[in-house]
Amino acid sequence: MNTQTLAFPSVAVIGAGLMGHGIAQIFALSGRQVWLNDLDEQMLEQAFVNVRNNLAIFVEHELVSPEEVDPALAMIKTTTSLEQAAGAADYVVEAVSENLELKQSIFKKLDAICRPETILSTNTSVMSITEIAAKADNRSRIVGTHFWNPPHLIPLVEVVPGDDTAPETVEHAYSLLADVGKHPVRVKRDVPGFVGNRLQHALWREAVSIVDQGIAEAAEVDEVVKMGFGIRLPVLGPLENADLVGLELTYAIHDYILKHLNASSEPAPILKRKIDQGHLGFKSGCGLQNWTEQEIADTRSRLAGHLIAWNKAQQGK
Ligand SMILES: NC(=O)c1ccc[n+]([C@@H]2O[C@H](COP(=O)([O-])OP(=O)(O)OC[C@H]3O[C@@H](n4cnc5c(N)ncnc54)[C@H](O)[C@@H]3O)[C@@H](O)[C@H]2O)c1
Repeated sequence: MNTQTLAFPSVAVIGAGLMGHGIAQIFALSGRQVWLNDLDEQMLEQAFVNVRNNLAIFVEHELVSPEEVDPALAMIKTTTSLEQAAGAADYVVEAVSENLELKQSIFKKLDAICRPETILSTNTSVMSITEIAAKADNRSRIVGTHFWNPPHLIPLVEVVPGDDTAPETVEHAYSLLADVGKHPVRVKRDVPGFVGNRLQHALWREAVSIVDQGIAEAAEVDEVVKMGFGIRLPVLGPLENADLVGLELTYAIHDYILKHLNASSEPAPILKRKIDQGHLGFKSGCGLQNWTEQEIADTRSRLAGHLIAWNKAQQGK
């Protein structure tokens, strides 16, 4: 592929962890040159292996052709130097650890290293884009682009302007993300958690609170979601659903129930108790539920299988 014909042909991805390697894969598969940067040489080596393994799975499930693999891998170069990664980039995605001061210092450096027209984006999950950009001089080119894990299998990317982001920056990021096959969605304002994590954690707060209050066991709460309204969600979002059932019914339900829902601005006490007991979830075999090694492996594999099947269905395969 002739990269000169592509918009933003050279991309830098800063941070090669869980998200960074999948984001690098997306841009490399689109035919763009990718410099993947991390402080840690071993993370870079592992990231490259992860991309190779992901692509092997994509080939196995016909999400890409075998001929696409080597050219995509050849597009990815790795470096521990931020200057080398970002100096000639047209577009930068920051995916380092979720730490405000770290992100602020990276954007200050990127602002100095990169050409004035280079767009700088952050993959923060919940933090303010305005605050992340605060130490940079040219804040108009800094934008939030929130990918979801795993980024190479989940289509959504929320595109979020900070207070100083230029409208053209948002439009360039949006077009590029659509061009590489993602499903960008515009968020109008920079609010903590954007749209997706506000919705997701409103649900998690209530789910944890139901367990904390002894209303249902954790497994049963999840069954209610997975065997009930969760099945509708890929077809019918909550606002479409409100229109479907009628707004007067939605009003009547909210009028009755909202005062009974958890509205705490603090994490539920059960989370603190569990953490203090060392019950951290999969990593310790016990969290809100108990997990055997086999159940952990089965759950991970069911999730991967579901995401792959969903992507195949989208491609009509
Ligand atoms: N994990 C998720 O589910 C998820 C989902 C969406 C968004 N995010 C966001 O993506 C970002 C990255 O998350 P992750 O889960 O990939 O984290 P991670 O811990 O897996 O990877 C972060 C990487 O950043 C590297 N790093 C740290 N400081 C650096 C620096 N100064 N320069 C270059 N590299 C540096 C680390 O070595 C590490 O490899 C975070 O902002 C996170 O909130 C994560």
